[in-house]
Amino acid sequence: MTVHFAPDAALFAVASTSRLDAYVATRRFDKPTLVMDLDRVETQYRALHAGLGRADIHYAVKANPARQIIARLVDLGSHFDAASRAEIALCLEEGADPSEVSFGNTIKRASDIAWARDQGITLFAADAAEELEKIAENAPGASVYIRLVVETSPGDWPLSRKFGCDRDMALRLLDMAKALGLNPVGFSFHVGSQTRHAEMWVPTLDVMAGIWQAAIDAGHDLTMLNIGGGFPAFHGEPIDTPTLYAAKVMEMVEARFPDVPRIMAEPGRGMVAEAGVIVAEVLLVSRKSDRDMHRWVYLDIGRFSGLAETEGEAIRYQFDTARDGDPMGACILAGPSCDSADVLYEKRPVLLPQTLRAGDRVLIRNTGAYTSTYSSVCFNGFPPLDVVVI
Ligand SMILES: Cc1ncc(COP(=O)(O)O)c(C=O)c1O
Repeated sequence: MTVHFAPDAALFAVASTSRLDAYVATRRFDKPTLVMDLDRVETQYRALHAGLGRADIHYAVKANPARQIIARLVDLGSHFDAASRAEIALCLEEGADPSEVSFGNTIKRASDIAWARDQGITLFAADAAEELEKIAENAPGASVYIRLVVETSPGDWPLSRKFGCDRDMALRLLDMAKALGLNPVGFSFHVGSQTRHAEMWVPTLDVMAGIWQAAIDAGHDLTMLNIGGGFPAFHGEPIDTPTLYAAKVMEMVEARFPDVPRIMAEPGRGMVAEAGVIVAEVLLVSRKSDRDMHRWVYLDIGRFSGLAETEGEAIRYQFDTARDGDPMGACILAGPSCDSADVLYEKRPVLLPQTLRAGDRVLIRNTGAYTSTYSSVCFNGFPPLDVVVI
């Protein structure tokens, strides 16, 4: 497999890959296993922090909630974006201060809001009137930020439509929050996960800046802008280093929001994806007839056991095998379950060695984000993706 990195990212990636490779090379795995390199998470945190400057990093816990990752990030001074009661509890157990944990899900259970308030959480996201009512009732006086919808996401894994509200509603929600006795501090948005180039943020930032100005003109004293996630990982196409990417984003943010006292960023994928490798195994290589042009390669991991982001072939993982020096051929890649939706890549087939056969090990690169928790509990009797943190 040929891997292209931006020049200074190359050393970085190779160093980390070799630590993971050294670990997996000396071990046997009897089920698909995600191996996470904690030091690489730290390197990634430091790199993002260097580029993000004065912005507070709130790690999006959903990307990978491994306890050791949260503990390391607490030590490094990271803050956290939690989506649920369980994620808040995890962060607090690992030593995060409640003032450093935001409850960023716009869809919350009322009792979880009350529980979070009791734990000392003071910052909540909302994008609807009913959510503000819930927060006002269960966490009176809390600070809230209103999530804005991103109409056209440039990310490979868009987060548009389901989340956020439009400009007019956002302005009304600020008024409503005040009337309910809450403290509306600002706005958030998410440009879309795996937004490969910083320049792709421009249209979203331009729209957000217009809405921000409209809120100021309407008399709101906004103090916080949450720029969400979107920071990419290497999934086959060249990307900037985390520091350069984050610095470019911040330059564009500062140019449009020069006087905002507080900026939050919520990297998830960009923090952990490249710190993980999944060790998988080929279960079967077959063709459907003697005339079949397509070789099917079935792995012991699929759409339901961790690789959910292959939905729509959106995220394209990189595969390494011990036979990569042999002639390569296109194949359809599928998972092991008895479900026909468990096909990973078919529209754009994957190049794998023609000599590949059952029993061969396959390393799936840069899979530290959005894999372990997407893995089903027991679909077809397969255990959830195993996670080892080194
Ligand atoms: C509110 C929020 N913030 C941050 C993130 C992390 O995004 P990313 O992994 O693209 O950095 C997500 C991802 O779903 C999110 O929902």
